[in-house]
Amino acid sequence: MDPVSLEASGISQTVEFQRELTLPGDPDTDHLLYVFDTNTDVLFGGSASDKVVISDGEEAKSWESVAKILQAALKMGMTRRSVFVGVGGGVIGDMTAFAASIYMRGCSVVLVPTTLLAMVDAAVGGKTGINFGGYKNMVGSFHPAHRVVTCTEALTSLPEREYHSGLAEVIKTAALGDRELYGMLRDRRDAIFGRDSDVMREVVARCVRVKAEIVEADLTEQGRRAWLNLGHTFAHALESTAGFGAYTHGEAVAWGMSRAMALGRRIDITAPDYARDLVDLIHEFRFSTDLPDLDTDGLIQAMARDKKRQTSRLRFVLQKNLCDTIVTEVDTGDVEAILE
Ligand code: GLY
Repeated sequence: MDPVSLEASGISQTVEFQRELTLPGDPDTDHLLYVFDTNTDVLFGGSASDKVVISDGEEAKSWESVAKILQAALKMGMTRRSVFVGVGGGVIGDMTAFAASIYMRGCSVVLVPTTLLAMVDAAVGGKTGINFGGYKNMVGSFHPAHRVVTCTEALTSLPEREYHSGLAEVIKTAALGDRELYGMLRDRRDAIFGRDSDVMREVVARCVRVKAEIVEADLTEQGRRAWLNLGHTFAHALESTAGFGAYTHGEAVAWGMSRAMALGRRIDITAPDYARDLVDLIHEFRFSTDLPDLDTDGLIQAMARDKKRQTSRLRFVLQKNLCDTIVTEVDTGDVEAILE
């Protein structure tokens, strides 16, 4: 599989595909510091000489963890020529890249995403960060990894719910920008569920290409990059009102995409056949779009908070049709109507 390169908008990043995961080295550097979580350390950490291990999960995405990485870097005498290597899911990738972006005002970072979510989304496009003050990803920077090493074999080590979660981002990416992938999701669904590494290599590479194209045009999210948030305003609100961990990110995004379709239908933006087809696909991928006990008021408040402003209108990423995406403001009343 050919590497995918992003080379515009101030970004220079290459996503490579390996058949067997070997930890990346770098002969041109004075020091390499590997960052694992407790899971990836057990699976892949054996051969790493210098490493930091952070506990698993979203709660670890904190200043304390970044400080731990920076302290290890300082202790090793890392310089601006040194390289930070993050091996894990989005939490490890975002934190490692954030630490690299501020250590001595910026060092190189290599990412080895081991979850589907990180392969198709988090590791690509240079967003780094930690959770802060009760908000997800409130503090961070744009600091693209110059190299992303992806091995779809690693997907076989993921717990089922975690793997399944990543599939929602795959559906989202296909809906945003790849008709062939959208068709492939139906045709190759069993192989995708079976984590066939060749099929998944193609799926991941296609997702990376879609994301690369969007990010190259708009690294710092002044416009098109916001498309990547299709379903996410609803999803973030659900994750925070239901309590983090009640739903996986993918379960929340799948539900959020179904609400984006319902909202697009309500305000007459989305083609009815497409809305139906995307929701069918979401169901075929075993996501539920009919969640019990939704707190409509809480969701609306969380959405306003997510946008960090109080207003009677909220901004959403909606779609007119497959691969035809817009960002638009919608009256809160319309949002309430499709949540009831
Ligand atoms: N995950 C959304 C973005 O990278 O912009």
